[in-house]
Amino acid sequence: MNRFEELDEMLHDCWHLLAKAAIKRKGDYQTPVIGTLGEGQAELRTVVLREVDMPGRKLIFFTDARSAKTQELEQSPRLSWLFWDARKKVQMRMYGEAECHRTDQVCRQYWEKLPVQGRKSYASTLAPGSPVDTDMTGLPNHWSDNMQLEDTEYAFDHFMVVVCQVGQVELLHLHQEGHQRAAYHWENGGWDGQWVIP
Ligand SMILES: Cc1cc2nc3c(=O)[nH]c(=O)nc-3n(C[C@H](O)[C@H](O)[C@H](O)COP(=O)(O)O)c2cc1C
Repeated sequence: MNRFEELDEMLHDCWHLLAKAAIKRKGDYQTPVIGTLGEGQAELRTVVLREVDMPGRKLIFFTDARSAKTQELEQSPRLSWLFWDARKKVQMRMYGEAECHRTDQVCRQYWEKLPVQGRKSYASTLAPGSPVDTDMTGLPNHWSDNMQLEDTEYAFDHFMVVVCQVGQVELLHLHQEGHQRAAYHWENGGWDGQWVIP
């Protein structure tokens, strides 16, 4: 990637790269690492970036509402995102407030678009993270990827949509002519950016 000329351009292009990754469903930016506040330590895990709302500053992922991250977000809605693309050599760190949606209209809207295979991640009968005696998925015995969509409806109760509104961004571009790093805060209805030493 060429070096960025302007602070605003850097931020805009980075948001655009994320939006593209979510739409095209490919590339390293599609699988960021998210961080929540755990008990005495940061909890990190990979998720799929499902949607990006650039004007709204929103990043969206799906999860099982019974997973550990849900409780952590209830305790503290602060959510961190880490994106790295090895080819573009741009690392993006984003921070925001998470809004968790369960069994509401927002969930319904995304759920309706999920095929049987997409619903599988929310379909285990036991909560994710439950200890078990043998290697098992927790899916009910009758589960099959060719089953009728209506037979997967019970899993809707487990389906959670997390919408994060970003208020802070930090970008790092590794470049042979000199690395670039910039930090931005959302303030008074606009992004306030600043170059910083990489
Ligand atoms: C490539 C990849 C994509 C993943 N996507 C998601 C996802 O979109 N949502 C999700 O909840 N977990 C996803 N996971 C699993 C999480 O990384 C994690 O193991 C799981 O959500 C349990 O996390 P928790 O116990 O901290 O809540 C993904 C894992 C990988 C390796």
